Amino acid sequence: MDDLVALKESYQTELASVQNLSDLQQVRNKYSGKKGILTAQLKSLSSVSTDQRPVFGKKLNEIKEFIESGLDAREMSLKEDEQEKRLLAERLDITLPGRPGLFGRSHPITQILEEIKGIFLSMGFGIEEGPEVELDYYNFEALNIPKDHPARDMQDTFYVSPDVVLRTHTSPVQVRVMEKRRPPLRIIVPGKVYRCDSDVTHTPMFHQVEGLMVDTDVSLSDLKGLLALFIHNLFGKNTPVRFRPSYFPFTEPSAEVDIGCIFCSGKGCRICKTTGWLEILGSGMVNPRVFEMAGYGPDEFSGFAFGMGVERITMLKYGIDDLRLFFENDLRFLRQF
Ligand code: PHE
Repeated sequence: MDDLVALKESYQTELASVQNLSDLQQVRNKYSGKKGILTAQLKSLSSVSTDQRPVFGKKLNEIKEFIESGLDAREMSLKEDEQEKRLLAERLDITLPGRPGLFGRSHPITQILEEIKGIFLSMGFGIEEGPEVELDYYNFEALNIPKDHPARDMQDTFYVSPDVVLRTHTSPVQVRVMEKRRPPLRIIVPGKVYRCDSDVTHTPMFHQVEGLMVDTDVSLSDLKGLLALFIHNLFGKNTPVRFRPSYFPFTEPSAEVDIGCIFCSGKGCRICKTTGWLEILGSGMVNPRVFEMAGYGPDEFSGFAFGMGVERITMLKYGIDDLRLFFENDLRFLRQF
């Protein structure tokens, strides 16, 4: 009986010093395992005298129960502690603000170019392209601008060789397309063009969108209607549109197209130079000489062409007063669009 009391006491001190589940397992093995003290004690019951045996057996059972329930309770609480610790370690602060991703965006010129393309695509126009390094023939000759023509001075040309230039406009693609295809034609030509010029409103490289429509009975009123529709799409449907007679060697008659100044609503300001109007594109009926040079019969077809500067339109649309901002790649500027 004294042994049993000592057993209970040593168990209690050992249990009290248990720190974790593996400590506990050792205590469990020592006392209630198959080779543990309690099992050994139970086996030794047979050697206890028959009159003592019931008392001793009862006491032994009590201690066994006491020890095992103590072990189980301790195991439960250790498991809870460990769970608690794990949860704390895994804890996420879902109230932290997220890290914003870095999103790129299209350059403002690209955005307006896409908008212009979208409008013409919706009107049944297809997109064509041509070379930026162009033959003098396509850039000038075939557009009715012979070598000694004063119109060549209008466009400060970069020459690569006497016969090869950096195209000064997208109009050469008109001729390239007409050489390859017969009407009906309805195309636009977006692309880069080059002129030896640099100031607040000119950069040596800029973008144009050319337009060409050719069929058997295309008239000036078709040109007017189409361009008005385009302008109303791009600048809003109440924008005033004006056709002003002009001159281009490759169109006859020719007109420059103005919109009512969007900065002063036509009252006259610095940007429209007090005229109330802003010039946004050149246009006209295709000169029969251009048809002829492209291989079309002189009276077979009629058509119109137009050309616009994308930078200029973007500046007007967003009220930007320095063209060079587009090419400095200053993110503070670009992020505004
Ligand atoms: N190519 C002319 C320019 O660059 C614009 C234009 C195109 C005018 C087509 C009339 C017809 O100024």
